[in-house]
Parts: sequence; structure tokens; C-alpha cells
Amino acid sequence: MLVKELREARRLAGWSQRTLAGRVDLDAQAIKRLEKGVGSVGTLIMVMGALDFRLTGLATRRKRSMSLDEMTEKTKLSRTTIASLERGGGSVKSLLRLMAVLAPRARRRAQERSYWGQGDKDDRDSRFTPPDFMAAIYTAFGEIDLDPCGHVLSPVIARRRILLSEGGDGLTDAWSGRLVFVNPPFSELLKWLQRAHGQWRAGTVETVVCLGPVRTDSRWFHDTLSADADIYLLRGRVRFLDPRGQGQHTPFSLMIVTLGATAEQKKRYAELVPGFWLARSAAGDGIG
Ligand SMILES: C[S@@+](CC[C@H](N)C(=O)[O-])C[C@H]1O[C@@H](n2cnc3c(N)ncnc32)[C@H](O)[C@@H]1O
Repeated sequence: MLVKELREARRLAGWSQRTLAGRVDLDAQAIKRLEKGVGSVGTLIMVMGALDFRLTGLATRRKRSMSLDEMTEKTKLSRTTIASLERGGGSVKSLLRLMAVLAPRARRRAQERSYWGQGDKDDRDSRFTPPDFMAAIYTAFGEIDLDPCGHVLSPVIARRRILLSEGGDGLTDAWSGRLVFVNPPFSELLKWLQRAHGQWRAGTVETVVCLGPVRTDSRWFHDTLSADADIYLLRGRVRFLDPRGQGQHTPFSLMIVTLGATAEQKKRYAELVPGFWLARSAAGDGIG
């Protein structure tokens, strides 16, 4: 079951066995074997990490109040094997036997719930852009004049921040400056993109760089924004910081939307961060 779900997770991510192998520095054969239930627990853990694959329904032997003897009796595994599995070693084959007894209901945890979904909505919308990600933004686009949805705990360096905690509202307060960086509450991405577009069109700001999930399904995105914005699809994911300063995986793909960025800025960014700029189609070229 675990092995089948792992293969499913790889396919859902759109990765071939070779791609996954590349991510964890193994050869494709090791992934092939793993997907047949053969390999080490160490390899399994690495692969699970790369796929953001987490399990729910797990229980420890202690939690089940099972002695080592009972466990050996039920699983037909030796004490040494069980001890090794409990330290994160051993083989996948033995682990599956152990799990059949200890955690028969273990299954993949729903992706978004496993980390992004922890906490309430406000908490989820307050994930801060990490300094290393920002470093590439500063280098490519320059110093940031405005963060219209700032936070006192955020590492983003901007000359001016609009802070909810100080009664500000980036959706209604005036924007100003040359460069604006926006990492909005993701639950309201569209609203913030519309605000950014409105301010940019009005000439209030020169350049906007917005970071958000790849959500391109709205009519407005296609009819209006796509005519003015440049979109950079990021390879890999960003570990945003939660309010406690801990890095959190992002269970979805991210994009950068820029308005008014120069060719030079975009080129520099692409040299620094893996991903690519979407080519703009000329109006009336019949695409779509
Ligand atoms: C995803 S966090 C990003 C924070 C920061 N811009 C960064 O990149 O690290 C989004 C922030 O927007 C703030 N926010 C939400 N609604 C806002 C509003 N109407 N005006 C200003 N800030 C807002 C939240 O407090 C939250 O801290």
C-alpha cells in the first residue's frame, strides 16, 4: 500500500523515476526497486522527503503498548531487525511487515494538510519570504521601496511597509515608490494581483514583483493581467518562514508575476533562480 502510494505521489508530481532519482542523488534503478518494495529505509525516507510524502495513522510500539517479544511474535521479525527499524534503519520489506501490524491504517496524509494547512487561516497567510529568496530579488530588481502586505516579523527589507498591525491596509492605502514587492496572503492572491495591477496602471509605482502560487484559472488573469505581466515559473519550492521563524515546505508550485520589469532585471533573475519566464504570445497569434 505504502509503496503504491509512493509511486502515485511521484506520478502526481509529474516526475519520472529518473527525475526523482536526480533529486535524491540516486540512480533510477534504486527508485524502480523502491517502488517494488525493495531497498533501505534510509532511501525510503529520502524519497519521501523529496516528494513531500508524509504518513498519517502511524503509531509507535510504545503507543500500542506492545513489548518487543509481542512484536517479534506478530511480525515474525527478529528483535535486531525491529530495533534497527525503530532507529530508522533496516529494509523496506521489513518495515512494511512491521507497519502491517503496528499501523495497518497508515496512509498518505493529504498534502496541503500535512504542513501548509496547519494552524488557522491567519497563520497560513502569514508565511514570510526567506532571506535567501529575497537576496535574489534585491540583486535582480534592486532595493524594495514598498512591501504593501508587510509584517513586523518578516525578513523582507523595504523602505516602507504597510502593516495591518498598525492599522494599515495594503488593499486601500496608497502605494508609492519605484519597486514594490508583494508576497500576499495566498488565500487572497487574485485581490492582491488586481490591486498591484491597478496601482501599476495608474503609474503610482514603476515595477511590481509579486510572489504567489501558480493560480492562473481566473478570467481576469487571462483577459487582463496576462497582457501586462511577465510570469516566471519557479523550479522547486520555497520554504517560507512561519511566525516562529521555522521553514515550512510549500505544497504547491510558485510563480513570480512582474509588472514593468526590464529585460535586464528579468535576465538577471533567471541567472540567479532556477525556473523560466513564460514567453508572451503576440496578440492574435491564434493560441488558445
Ligand atoms: C504571506 S505574508 C507575507 C509577509 C511579507 N510580505 C513577506 O513576504 O514576508 C502576508 C502578510 O500580509 C498581511 N496582510 C494581510 N492582509 C493585509 C492587508 N489588507 N494590508 C496589509 N497587510 C495585509 C498579513 O499580515 C501577512 O503578514
